[in-house]
Amino acid sequence: MVSKKLFIETLGCAMNSRDSEHMIAQLREKEGYETTDDLKSADLIIINTCSVREKPVAKLFSELGVFNKKKKEGAKIGVCGCTASHLGDEIIKRAPYVSFVLGARNVSKITEVLNRERAVEVDINYDESSFAFNDFRTSPYKAYINISIGCDKSCTYCIVPKTRGDEISIPVDLILREASRAVERGAKEVFLLGQNVNNYGRRFSGEHEKINFTELLRRLSRIEGLSRIRFTSPHPFHMDDEFIEEFARNPKICKSMHMPLQSGSSKVLRDMKRGYSKEWFLDRVEKLRSVSPEVSISTDIIVAFPGESDEDFEDTLDVMRRVKFDQIFSFKYSARPETEAEHFTNTVDDDVASRRLTTLQNLATDILDEKNKTHLGKIYSVYFEDLIQDYYVSGRSDNNLVVKVKGSDELLGQFRDVEITAIGRTILTGEIVG
Ligand code: 5AD
Ligand code: SF4
Repeated sequence: MVSKKLFIETLGCAMNSRDSEHMIAQLREKEGYETTDDLKSADLIIINTCSVREKPVAKLFSELGVFNKKKKEGAKIGVCGCTASHLGDEIIKRAPYVSFVLGARNVSKITEVLNRERAVEVDINYDESSFAFNDFRTSPYKAYINISIGCDKSCTYCIVPKTRGDEISIPVDLILREASRAVERGAKEVFLLGQNVNNYGRRFSGEHEKINFTELLRRLSRIEGLSRIRFTSPHPFHMDDEFIEEFARNPKICKSMHMPLQSGSSKVLRDMKRGYSKEWFLDRVEKLRSVSPEVSISTDIIVAFPGESDEDFEDTLDVMRRVKFDQIFSFKYSARPETEAEHFTNTVDDDVASRRLTTLQNLATDILDEKNKTHLGKIYSVYFEDLIQDYYVSGRSDNNLVVKVKGSDELLGQFRDVEITAIGRTILTGEIVG
């Protein structure tokens, strides 16, 4: 039988990447699809969308138009993910050639909507927390595993609770089984995913053993053959001492922490309903560094949230200078439908927002350049995952530095000691020394 071809484009975060893997798994197993990079030969085209900021949403419709022109006769187009959740049947109204719309919380229904004309499945109360997806992973070396779905927070800028619904934790035994299976198949690293991973255990659907995130980490680390555990995103509000101490003490937990600050101003944090202050955030960083001095810390920052004054922005720069983040993801505030902040009228002018973003990013680059120098000559244990151009292989150190060495695919899935010999902003170069 000639297999049918699936072209899938994934936007947004790691959770969306895992949702795409789940869709591929179901479509392979139940419908005989194989993935392709060639849009024109695809029988099914899927865009797995993100709606966290406005720009990617605007891009969706122009991209759909292009796909519709290029696709082969009879090929179907499906729109999935967060924008599917929030726009629902409006997508088919604006782009009538779209065959189905599938929300970010309805991924397990992919084979069902495929066979229903103009299906729209976007129920954000749908519970697929115990659904056993078929097994498909893009990388054999690192296994992404969802530990919760949805989000219970009410950050005033954020659309995600409206696209992914209430938070439900995945049962512990399912997570442990998935991790063990991935390790049996050769993965030495697991990457746990959730909107608020360290809120794990808050709510399960049905009767399940209730444990918190720290205990989940302990249990996962007992899996033999598993060397590394990473996770994203933890919430600064839930970073209690028990969690930070387990993070530091447990050798399988990689020493890299994402701490989404969003703003350094306690007033803006209050308006954002983040649940912590500038002082709390700095205190958590201090605690973390005191028990885990080698930890690298990354963050997300939004500039020009409504009402952000020059002084508020100065507070963000102040936190930047004190913490010296190893990586930042920074964004201009973008008003999103169905959020509280959408109705805030004290908006910041776009030229001020642009200036602040540039100032922030320049500071982040200066800090990074300074920090990068300290890596020269150091030796890190690198887990190799990707073949890159010109016979190089790349991987990550425990504290999340991206490192490349000359080498071939024999290095993939292997740990090696690497001495850093050259510094670049996004990737370091090294030589294997052990
Ligand atoms: N505008 C700008 N950035 C946003 N983010 C979330 N919502 C918005 C918004 N409305 C950012 C936050 C979050 C990251 C994934 O995207 O920094 O941590
Ligand atoms: Fe985008 Fe947020 Fe949805 Fe991820 S959860 S795809 S970042 S809107």
